[in-house]
Amino acid sequence: MKTRILKVPLPSSENDSELGFWAPGKLNALSTWTLPPTISESSPLQIAAHALQASSTPVAFPTETVYGLGADATRSSAVRGIYAAKGRPSDNPLIVHVSDLDMLARFLPRSGLPEIYEEVIRKFWPGPLTILLPVPEAGGGGGVLAPEVTAGLSTFGVRMPASALARTLIKLVGQPLAAPSANASTRPSPTKAVHVLEDLDGRIELILDGGDCQVGVESTVVDGLCSPPVVLRPGGVGIEELRQCKGWEGAVKGYKDHSEVGGRSAPRAPGMKYKHYSPRARVVLFEKQQQQAGNRVEEGDVLLEGGKEKTVAFIRTGTWKVAGGLRSSKFEEKRISEEGDQDEQGGFVMKQGSLLGLDGQEIARLLDVDLGHDVKGVARGLFAALRELDRQGADVIFVEGVSDGDDIAAAVMNRLRKAASEIRQ
Ligand code: TXA
Ligand code: MG
Repeated sequence: MKTRILKVPLPSSENDSELGFWAPGKLNALSTWTLPPTISESSPLQIAAHALQASSTPVAFPTETVYGLGADATRSSAVRGIYAAKGRPSDNPLIVHVSDLDMLARFLPRSGLPEIYEEVIRKFWPGPLTILLPVPEAGGGGGVLAPEVTAGLSTFGVRMPASALARTLIKLVGQPLAAPSANASTRPSPTKAVHVLEDLDGRIELILDGGDCQVGVESTVVDGLCSPPVVLRPGGVGIEELRQCKGWEGAVKGYKDHSEVGGRSAPRAPGMKYKHYSPRARVVLFEKQQQQAGNRVEEGDVLLEGGKEKTVAFIRTGTWKVAGGLRSSKFEEKRISEEGDQDEQGGFVMKQGSLLGLDGQEIARLLDVDLGHDVKGVARGLFAALRELDRQGADVIFVEGVSDGDDIAAAVMNRLRKAASEIRQ
C-alpha cells in the first residue's frame, strides 16, 4: 500500500471562498453549522472524506491534540481497519469524534444528554475533552455505533475536536469518526504528519497534513456517569478547570499521579510497565524540576562498555542548564520545526555537541532540547522531541519533569511516567 501525505492549505483569510469559514476562531459553533458549497471535489478534504465513506482503510487527520487515525464509527469493517493498521489490541476502546451537537444527538440515549455534561460541554467543547456516554439502546437517536468502537463496553467516549479541519472532515463524511492517536501501538503520539508516516507508512493510504498540533497531548477522558465523576486520563483540559463546573466539584483522579508513583527511585523492573508513549531510547525521568541532572547522572548512564560512543540526550523544561549541568563542548544548533511553519509554535531548538569528561576529553555525543518553562509549550513539543531524539540515535534521554499540577502538567507527567523506564527523584 502506498501512503500519501496531502497538505491541506490553510485558509488565506476569512474571505477565502473555499476554506475561509474555518479560519482561526471562526468555527466555534457547538450546534448546527453548515458546510459552504464551495469545497471542490479535488480538495484533500474531499478526497479524504470519500475514502472514509467508501474504503475500510483508515485515514490520518490532524486534531488540536494529536493526529488521529479515523474511520466511520458506524461501519464495523472500517473500524476494524484501525486496529489492524495500528497493531492495537481490540479490547482498547476508541474515541468517537463528532462535528457538532446535531451529530451527537443521533447517538444519545432516549433520555438525552446526561445533565452532568451540560456545563462541561458548553465550556470545553469544541476542545480536548472526551466524555463517556451510555451506548444508545436501539431506537435512541437513530445512530448505531459499530460494536468494535466500544470493545464491548456499555459506554463510549466522544468529543468534538476544536480543529476546524477535523470537524469539516467529519461533516463531509456525514458520520462520526472513531479515531485513536495515529501512532503505532506503544510509540509516542504523532503531532506532525511526518510522525504518522514514520509509524504507518505502507499501512494506510492517506495522511491529511494540517501542520503541527497545537495542544500536543491527548484529550482529557472523563466519566461523569458515576458519582463522584472520575478523570480517567489527564489531558488538554485540567482537573482544576473541570472542578469549577456544576457537579464536578468533587471529581477524582482515576489515574496515578506523583502521590502514588512517587517515592520510588529504584529502576522499575523491565516489562513491569505497560509500554506506552515510548521512543526506542531509554527514558530516565527526573521528578523534581529543581535538581540539575548532573547531580544524579551516573557513569553507566553516559559511558558505554565496548567502545562504541553513546548518544546522551537531555530534554529540559525550565531550570536545568544545558546538558543538565554536565560539562559540554560548543554546540551546533538546529531548529526542529515544520517546513514553512508559520508561527513555529510546534518547533524547538536542538543543540548537538559533546559531553566532556573531567580531563576535557569527549566521552559521549550530546543532544539537548529545551522545551521552555511554559507547560503548554512543553506539552506541545514533548512527543515531537522524543521522536526527534530517536531519529538522531539517542541511547538514553534524561527528561526534566514539570511540577505535577492540576492543569495540563498532569498530562505531561502522566505521559512521561509511562514512557520512562526509570524515575529518579
Ligand atoms: O486527543 C485524543 O483523545 C486523541 C485524538 C485523536 O482525538 N485520541 C486518542 O485516542 O488519544 P486513543 O485511542 O489513543 O486513547 C483513547 C483513550 C484510551 O485510554 C481508552 O482506553 C479511553 O480513551 N477510552 C475510550 N473509550 C472509553 C470507554 N468507553 N471507557 C473508558 N475509557 C475509554
Ligand atoms: Mg493513543
